[in-house]
Amino acid sequence: MKRKALIAGNWKMHTTAVEARMLATAVAEGCSGIDDRDVLIAPPFTVLGEVAASVKGSRVIVASQNVCWEEQGAYTGEISPIMVKAAGGSAAIVGHSERRQIFLEGDDLINRRLTGALTSGLMVILCVGETLEEREGGRMFAVLDRQVRRGLAGVDAAAMTRVVIAYEPVWAIGTGKTASKEQAQEAHAFIRNLLGEIFQKDIAAQTRILYGGSVKPTNIDELMAQPDIDGALVGGAALDPQSFRRIIAFG
Ligand code: 13P
Repeated sequence: MKRKALIAGNWKMHTTAVEARMLATAVAEGCSGIDDRDVLIAPPFTVLGEVAASVKGSRVIVASQNVCWEEQGAYTGEISPIMVKAAGGSAAIVGHSERRQIFLEGDDLINRRLTGALTSGLMVILCVGETLEEREGGRMFAVLDRQVRRGLAGVDAAAMTRVVIAYEPVWAIGTGKTASKEQAQEAHAFIRNLLGEIFQKDIAAQTRILYGGSVKPTNIDELMAQPDIDGALVGGAALDPQSFRRIIAFG
């Protein structure tokens, strides 16, 4: 089964309203006429609505960078799937390593976010990835196994059509140190095989697995040439319209 490539830009804690509108408009223009790949952008919560309005009518998918499992209530600092949808978004990122490391989100909390978002009809990007210490200590596969299994606990095969996995080795994020194409492919193949164990082979074959960590115009082509890399989750380079457009135009 051929998987449709997905290029996703995670804007992290960047952009005010004016900057966000400009960037979103440039992305929408940059992908007009391209329909063999999906494009997604994840702006900060404060500009979700503005960004959705700026890309309206284009093929750009708008995502939140995190999401709560509840529809509403006393959850200070959180945003619900209903709010994401009302703002014009249709997807959410969960389990980003910055959420795991800086804000101490664990696998069970991330699983609640993921299942809540799926129940509300959102598409979800589940981020996983090992730290340098875990890789060098020989624990990379065990960490990926745990993050994928616990992240996807309770998800049924039907809902997996709306799940994307992003492999983002923590040591490659924002460091300029990209995983080599061999290192990335090895991790992606491991995750795909694991999806086959958790679900079935057809789910493993259909699920998109993105690579993230210092993706740039200069390395996107060789990454995308790997058999199990189906797209990219881009941080820094997604803030520069020219770079992001070049990444979208990989191949
Ligand atoms: P960089 O592309 O800046 O390394 O960030 C990757 C990332 O964390 C995307 O979610």
